[in-house]
Amino acid sequence: MGFPEEIFYEIEDKRIIQAINAIPREAFVPDNLRDMAYLDSALPIGCNQTISQPSLVAYMTQLLKLTGKEKVLEIGTGSGYQTALLAELAEKVYTIEIVESLYERSKETLENLGIENVCFKLGSGYEGWTEYAPFDGIMVTAAPPKIPKKLLKQLKPGGRMVVPVGGEGEVQTLKLIVRSGEGFVEKDMNYVRFVPMVE
Ligand SMILES: C[S@@+](CC[C@H](N)C(=O)[O-])C[C@H]1O[C@@H](n2cnc3c(N)ncnc32)[C@H](O)[C@@H]1O
Repeated sequence: MGFPEEIFYEIEDKRIIQAINAIPREAFVPDNLRDMAYLDSALPIGCNQTISQPSLVAYMTQLLKLTGKEKVLEIGTGSGYQTALLAELAEKVYTIEIVESLYERSKETLENLGIENVCFKLGSGYEGWTEYAPFDGIMVTAAPPKIPKKLLKQLKPGGRMVVPVGGEGEVQTLKLIVRSGEGFVEKDMNYVRFVPMVE
């Protein structure tokens, strides 16, 4: 178990490294890829989807500035690896996945690891999760062509959203959006490549 020694994205927050070190990434990857689980690379998880590279997961999580008291919405549960990190650093995580087999498998993986502060939903992330809104943080781990307006509305004042924006197969822009009293402040943070957030 452990965070890769050679990483691509820089992580300043030691709490994130500590938290990620506590998560066995091999539990989230297919059996035949377990010996690659601690490389800093994305890996296939079936259904044409991927588990993101650990340093990018850590980097994106760092942008949410979690203190342990937050309610976080995640779009794109995938393997559940990012979900597990959010669960370690926030009070409650609500996660939505559109592919049924990934929804089932990620739920089982987190249950097996004894992670209890996560609610799972099968459906489209474009709708968000109105019953539990507003959220302190929203983490989007698939790329929409533009920022989904319904998700912005589910962010608390002072809340932070991290979202990769751009077309399929293009280099996308990782955006940090902070809701202020008057509106939203948007900042481009990095270039990334994510699978598309499907309609
Ligand atoms: C890059 S993977 C997420 C990786 C995940 N963070 C992990 O740690 O394994 C993106 C996920 O978003 C899901 N997805 C794509 N479009 C979606 C949508 N509209 N709503 C919810 N999930 C979606 C995909 O099925 C896929 O599982």
